[in-house]
Amino acid sequence: MACPENMFFLIVLFMSGVLACFGQRHLITTMPDRLDVLTGSCVQIPCSFDIPEQHKDKLNSTILTSGVWIKENPYFGGRPDSVIFNSSETVNRYEGKITGNMSQKNCTTVFFNVTTNYTNRYFFRIESQPFLATDTEKSVKIVVWDLPSSPILTVSGEVKEGIPVSLNCSAVTSCPEHPPELTWTLPTQFTHENQLQENPDQTKSVLSTVTFTPSYLHHEKNITCTAVYPVGTSNKTAEHNMMLNVSFSPKNTSASISPADPVLVGSCVNLTCSSTANPPVTNFTWFKISGDKPTQVASGLSYSLNVTVGDGGLYYCEARNSHGCGKSKEVQLAIKGQEEPVNPKVYEIVGKTLGFIFLFSLIVFFAWRRRTSRLPSGFDMTDRSQGQNSPVGTVCSNQATVGRGNQ
Ligand SMILES: *[C@@H]1O[C@H](CO)[C@@H](O)[C@H](O)[C@H]1NC(C)=O
Ligand SMILES: *[C@@H]1O[C@H](CO)[C@@H](O)[C@H](O)[C@H]1NC(C)=O
Ligand SMILES: *[C@@H]1O[C@H](CO)[C@@H](O)[C@H](O)[C@H]1NC(C)=O
Ligand SMILES: *[C@@H]1O[C@H](CO)[C@@H](O)[C@H](O)[C@H]1NC(C)=O
Ligand SMILES: *[C@@H]1O[C@H](CO)[C@@H](O)[C@H](O)[C@H]1NC(C)=O
Ligand SMILES: *[C@@H]1O[C@H](CO)[C@@H](O)[C@H](O)[C@H]1NC(C)=O
Ligand SMILES: *[C@@H]1O[C@H](CO)[C@@H](O)[C@H](O)[C@H]1NC(C)=O
Ligand SMILES: *[C@@H]1O[C@H](CO)[C@@H](O)[C@H](O)[C@H]1NC(C)=O
Ligand SMILES: *[C@@H]1O[C@H](CO)[C@@H](O)[C@H](O)[C@H]1NC(C)=O
Ligand SMILES: *[C@@H]1O[C@H](CO)[C@@H](O)[C@H](O)[C@H]1NC(C)=O
Ligand SMILES: *[C@@H]1O[C@H](CO)[C@@H](O)[C@H](O)[C@H]1NC(C)=O
Ligand SMILES: *[C@@H]1O[C@H](CO)[C@@H](O)[C@H](O)[C@H]1NC(C)=O
Repeated sequence: MACPENMFFLIVLFMSGVLACFGQRHLITTMPDRLDVLTGSCVQIPCSFDIPEQHKDKLNSTILTSGVWIKENPYFGGRPDSVIFNSSETVNRYEGKITGNMSQKNCTTVFFNVTTNYTNRYFFRIESQPFLATDTEKSVKIVVWDLPSSPILTVSGEVKEGIPVSLNCSAVTSCPEHPPELTWTLPTQFTHENQLQENPDQTKSVLSTVTFTPSYLHHEKNITCTAVYPVGTSNKTAEHNMMLNVSFSPKNTSASISPADPVLVGSCVNLTCSSTANPPVTNFTWFKISGDKPTQVASGLSYSLNVTVGDGGLYYCEARNSHGCGKSKEVQLAIKGQEEPVNPKVYEIVGKTLGFIFLFSLIVFFAWRRRTSRLPSGFDMTDRSQGQNSPVGTVCSNQATVGRGNQ
């Protein structure tokens, strides 16, 4: 007794056998599903074909095979108009050429001077007496446009200041003999490289890759990739615009004091920090220079204080985001009637100058010593590292160098 599952299996076997018989193709073509073409341009249809094993012997390779293109409906009997190209004819409805080598089963075809009424689907047929076969199951849809579509712009990951970034712009070309020219408009110097590449469906695209190093000055500036398609004696252009979003550490950090004039003890003073950064500043920190060392006194965009006798002096702020930080110049909080405190900067400058003179004398001294008696070479290094020692040990580096080090 056959159980239902086995019966189901038999039915499936039978059905697939029937389908295989009806669906048998004498010709199997491979071509893209769709091609978008510009009016006046040419269209290259990438095409290859194969003949199933059981029909292979019917094709006599010594007989020239002709390729035929049929529009709309593969059954052209009674509608000769639908045969738009026959490689055995010298005059065809569509001006074209089979550029592929048919002996190598390459049926790649080019049609010239495409007009809007070429929009249709097309079937391929081979004729090599007595073997005639049309692939009725595969067609290519050709869609003709008056204007080119915009090229596609892609960016690799996040755009950060100081880190070279690559952008790709790709434009499809239905007519690889006359590919579009891709040009870039960027707010800075750049290098670019163009190449013709093949897509998975064998259509072609022009790819242009541009590399440049963004800076914070390029934030919110436009980038344009323009594709110029040569069509006959004129050009058709399409472009893609993109606004750059450059992430950068805080820039133009400055501290302001209000009121700016000397104030009385007991009055209220506001210190405000400003900075531009992308992403926005997450942390403002205020420092007061006491002695020659900065001391953190507050955090927040503004620092309001009710002035006491000890509050006079120099202040600066630091702005920080995920990319780094920026430091403002110092501002002075002056108290009316109080002796202007000696600017610690003066000490710093005097100290630095003295240090420099000392260092210079040392270098001269050692240079002189070295010339007379050979010294071990380690001295050079110590000299230089001493010269770089910063008198104020700050967490935040200098504005000009911030960013490159913090990514
Ligand atoms: C192929 O065609 C040629 C010329 O018509 C003929 O001489 C030859 O026998 C044919 N070969 C086969 C395998 O049919
Ligand atoms: C293609 O052209 C050849 C030679 O003129 C002709 O014999 C054949 O019938 C044509 N095929 C079609 C589909 O029109
Ligand atoms: C088919 O011919 C075209 C045009 O000559 C050529 O570009 C393409 O590479 C060929 N395809 C194959 C698979 O050889
Ligand atoms: C086409 O391919 C055949 C077989 O590979 C070769 O003999 C012939 O020279 C090729 N024709 C052209 C025009 O390349
Ligand atoms: C058709 O295309 C050919 C080759 O691209 C060109 O020489 C010819 O001028 C075109 N004809 C028309 C009517 O556009
Ligand atoms: C397509 O349209 C052009 C005019 O745009 C006309 O000259 C040509 O005969 C038409 N071709 C077909 C096959 O209808
Ligand atoms: C640009 O295209 C190349 C080649 O296809 C690819 O390797 C690269 O990842 C692409 N870069 C971007 C930013 O899309
Ligand atoms: C078309 O564009 C090319 C550059 O891609 C240029 O050299 C040529 O002068 C342009 N032709 C016309 C008619 O604008
Ligand atoms: C930048 O591109 C946008 C469209 O993406 C446009 O509206 C804007 O005017 C452009 N700005 C500049 C300065 O070119
Ligand atoms: C500042 O502090 C003093 C003493 O604590 C107080 O009397 C005065 O009202 C405060 N002034 C302001 C503007 O808060
Ligand atoms: C300080 O800032 C606060 C709020 O931020 C404001 O109410 C006050 O008027 C400001 N004072 C001065 C002196 O600018
Ligand atoms: C802001 O930065 C300072 C100094 O780096 C740190 O002490 C403070 O905790 C930070 N505040 C916040 C809210 O992250």
